[in-house]
Amino acid sequence: MSEELNDLSVLDEMDIPEVLRDEHPDFSKKPKIKPTTKRLLFRLGAFLFGLVAFVILGLGAIATRQMFTAAPEPTAREAISPPETTGNGAAPEAQILGHFLYPEAAPSDLVPVSADGRFQLRPAAAEKFLQMQADASSAGINLVLISAFRSIEEQRHLFFDVKEQRAQDTSQRAEVSAPPNYSEHHTGYAIDIGDGNAPDTHLQENFEDTAAFQWLQANAARYSFELSFPRNNLQGIAYEPWHWRFVGDQDSLETFYRARNFNQ
Ligand code: DAL
Ligand code: ZN
Repeated sequence: MSEELNDLSVLDEMDIPEVLRDEHPDFSKKPKIKPTTKRLLFRLGAFLFGLVAFVILGLGAIATRQMFTAAPEPTAREAISPPETTGNGAAPEAQILGHFLYPEAAPSDLVPVSADGRFQLRPAAAEKFLQMQADASSAGINLVLISAFRSIEEQRHLFFDVKEQRAQDTSQRAEVSAPPNYSEHHTGYAIDIGDGNAPDTHLQENFEDTAAFQWLQANAARYSFELSFPRNNLQGIAYEPWHWRFVGDQDSLETFYRARNFNQ
């Protein structure tokens, strides 16, 4: 077929059979759209545009709201919070009545620090205490252990039962004794030291007048022991010149100072 015949516009209407004339498309004119159809299309377009704008604005509003209300990243404090639960199933508080939460050493973490096995500490603390005791002895000072590792169960008795026996209120008791879960003694790094030559001063404030205490003040740091509750300590715990803690390795240092960094 020639190009000319291909172009229907060159055909005269009379060349088209009558039955097909109405179907003959008029390619020279644009198809006519009725005004009512135009209006309908315009409305449909406006509706679609509105719908898209509504969805975009809605999504934007939701995203903005989430930016300002989304939970913040956990802080370091949350990240290190112990996951253990207390007796009632709740997560324990990091600090109670001035005392910090401490993990309890497992039996396998502990070694005897006295011949009769009555007192136990973590190995690094035990070794340094024995060295300190031997050096003190060479200087004529009689350091004796009064207490070392204490379990949470033992602390429960010391806090609640003794509180009742002495008719102390909670705050009074907490000034001199940690609630269970919150004693440095749970860690296996804390000890109570007495002067073997002055037993009357054991666990008394006047222990500070003994030769043992004077010697400890001058020398305990050589063995990485420090006083936990000096006079007017920030925790509000009564002065305990007999209570010392070991901070001579990474684990012990972190055990005691991590709790303080996040709670004071
Ligand atoms: N006496 C100290 C505070 C304790 O009970 O751990
Ligand atoms: Zn103590």
